[in-house]
Amino acid sequence: EKEGYEHFMIKEIHEQPKGVSETLLRRLDTDENIVLDGIKLTKEDLENINKVYIVACGTAYHAGLVGRYAIEKFAKIPVEVDVASEFRYRDPFVDDKTLFIAVSQSGETLDTLAALREAKRKGARILSIVNVVGSSVARESDDVFYTWAGPEIAVASTKAYTTQLVAMYLVALHMSSVKGTLTKDQYDGIIKELKTMPEKVKNILDNHTRIQHLADGQFNNESVFFMGRGLDVHVAHEGSLKLKEISYINSFAIAAGELKHGTIALIEDGTLVVALATQDRLYDKMLSNIQEVRARGAFVVGVAKEGNKEIEKTADVVLYVPDTMDELTPILSVIPLQLLAYYIAVARGCDVDKPKNLAKSVTVE
Ligand code: M6R
Repeated sequence: EKEGYEHFMIKEIHEQPKGVSETLLRRLDTDENIVLDGIKLTKEDLENINKVYIVACGTAYHAGLVGRYAIEKFAKIPVEVDVASEFRYRDPFVDDKTLFIAVSQSGETLDTLAALREAKRKGARILSIVNVVGSSVARESDDVFYTWAGPEIAVASTKAYTTQLVAMYLVALHMSSVKGTLTKDQYDGIIKELKTMPEKVKNILDNHTRIQHLADGQFNNESVFFMGRGLDVHVAHEGSLKLKEISYINSFAIAAGELKHGTIALIEDGTLVVALATQDRLYDKMLSNIQEVRARGAFVVGVAKEGNKEIEKTADVVLYVPDTMDELTPILSVIPLQLLAYYIAVARGCDVDKPKNLAKSVTVE
C-alpha cells in the first residue's frame, strides 16, 4: 500500500496537496462561504465566547500555535495554547464562556482526551479538529471539524499537520465572518490565497531533489538548530520535532530573538542551523540573526519566499517556497523541513516509519 514509495512517510508527504485541497474544498460553497456542516457555532454562541483554549500534543500542538495566530488576527478573540499533559494538571481558568479546541490526528491521545473532559466539566464548549472519524475525541466533542488527510500510518505526522493548519484557518475565518472582524476584501483575499495552497505545496514537492542532496551532505550532524520569528518559530518547532523523532539527531528550535539570551553559546564551526525567514515584516531581523550564527561558524540553510533574494548573501543554502501572504506560510514552509528530516533519516539508515520508542498514538500517560 506504499504505492511505489519507499516509506509511508514520504508517501504521506506527497499526499499533502490532496489532503489540503480536500480539507479546504469540502468546507467551501460555490460562493466561497465556509460551510461548517455539523458545527453549530452561531453568532450568539460566538458572542458568548470570550476566550479560546487550543490544547493538543506534539505536532497537533504545533498546529495549534499557528491556530492561535490565525484566530487572534482574523477573529480578534484571545487564545491560549497548551500541551494537553500540562493543561489537565494545572487547574486552568475555563468557564462557560470558553471555547476549547482539541486538535488530534488520531482522536485517541489520552492526555488530549483527559484535557477535553476537564474543560467540559468546567463548562467549556468543545470543538475538535480530528482526522479519524468516530474517534474518542470526536465522540466527546460538541462539534467536530474533520480533516481530510486520509489515514496516516507513519509515526511522524505530516499530512495531518498541514490539514490541521487548513482547519485552523477555516475556523478562524468562520469566526471572523460571524463577528465581522475582517472586511469582505480581506476575507476573500485569504480564501483565494488558501485555494492556491495545494498547487504551491506540489511545486515544493516537485523540487525535492535539491533537499535530498542537501540531506546527503548533512546527515552526520550531531545537533541541528531551527530558528525563526513570528509564525516561523512554530514551524521551526515542527521541523525540529520531525527531525529528532525519525533521525535521532539532537535538534531543537528557538525564537531567533532569543539567540543572544543563551543559545548562541552552542553555535560552533559547522553547526547546522535551519533559519526560517518567510515573514516579510521580520525578514531583515532574521537576516541579522543568520549573520550572527554564521559569524560563529554555523552552516545556515535558509527557508525564504521566492523573490526574497537578499538571504542568499547570508545563508549558505536557500530553500525557496512559493510566495504567499505571511499568515499562510506555515502550510508551505513546513514542507522542505519534512523532506529534510525524511532524507536525513534515510541517509542515516533509520527505520523512518517506525522510529524507536515511539507509537503512532499515545493512549497511555
Ligand atoms: O494523534 P494526535 O494528533 O493526538 O497525536 C499527537 C502526537 O502524539 C503526534 O503529533 C506526535 O507528536 C507525532 N509523532 C509527531 O510527528
